[in-house]
Amino acid sequence: MENRIELRSPVDFKVDSSACLRCGACVRDCAFKVLSFDRTGLPSMPHPEKCMRCQHCFAVCPVGAITFDGVKSSDVAAVKDLELPNADQIANWIRSRRSVRKFAVEDVDPVVLDKVLKLLANSPTGCNARALTFTCYPNRAAVNGFRNAFLKAVEEHRDGSKLLPRWLAVPAIKLRKGGEDIFFRGASGILIVSSDETAPGVTTPQEDVTIACSNFELLANANGISTCWCGFLKLVQNEIPELLEKVVGMRRTTPFYAILFGKKAVKYMRCVERGAYASIVYKNAEN
Ligand SMILES: Cc1cc2nc3c(=O)[nH]c(=O)nc-3n(C[C@H](O)[C@H](O)[C@H](O)COP(=O)(O)O)c2cc1C
Repeated sequence: MENRIELRSPVDFKVDSSACLRCGACVRDCAFKVLSFDRTGLPSMPHPEKCMRCQHCFAVCPVGAITFDGVKSSDVAAVKDLELPNADQIANWIRSRRSVRKFAVEDVDPVVLDKVLKLLANSPTGCNARALTFTCYPNRAAVNGFRNAFLKAVEEHRDGSKLLPRWLAVPAIKLRKGGEDIFFRGASGILIVSSDETAPGVTTPQEDVTIACSNFELLANANGISTCWCGFLKLVQNEIPELLEKVVGMRRTTPFYAILFGKKAVKYMRCVERGAYASIVYKNAEN
């Protein structure tokens, strides 16, 4: 990725001394206590190599006096200027979202997709490790290439006398003969989110991946792109990791998840009720 800042390099932290109120909001909000006051009462960062770059100091400053890695407050949006969805709108989204498995022939607009993928980089990661990669097959031509490479790898796979599991071999043969695509559901796009579990500071790679996938589902649908989680590829990684390594070029142990996406060719008319299918357990003081 271009312009990627090396997270573990020392932060470039600057304070405009004429603007700073010396209120200490930044120092108090620093989770890892890398900020302190200098002799003149200005916030300072004596060990910028210890900062995890969460940028809470930058976000919380009431007057925008901080420049963080060269970014000034005037370079970013003010939260007060953003229109946010209200509680009912978010509840409606959660109640009405559906996995889509019928996709239109039309590809997703690449400009919209690119906007969504760039926003995804804002997803939180444990200790702000930010070792995510978004591998995207953005259109039908790319997905067809991926599907063909996958089917070829399945066909060529040999593991001594061990047979491929039935859940993979049987649908793969049917798909080769032009049958239904139960693996990728006829989607026009596939996003694979992975996390480099070997990168410095990475503590929660699978959780980081899942959160980014969830955010993709949210952002994609808000932009007219429908989605379906693809647990199938995870099964492949668990049982025949070399297959995925061959087709995607990802290490066998790399935490990842995939989401199928595209324009939908199905319309859901109503919400479903699932309240009764999950347990809510309150542990009050008297329990
Ligand atoms: C982690 C995860 C993996 C999934 N994997 C697949 C999959 O491989 N293929 C598929 O068709 N649906 C997959 N689904 C979709 C679920 O079957 C679906 O979410 C569930 O049946 C509920 O339907 P809904 O998403 O429309 O509410 C997956 C969902 C999740 C959350």
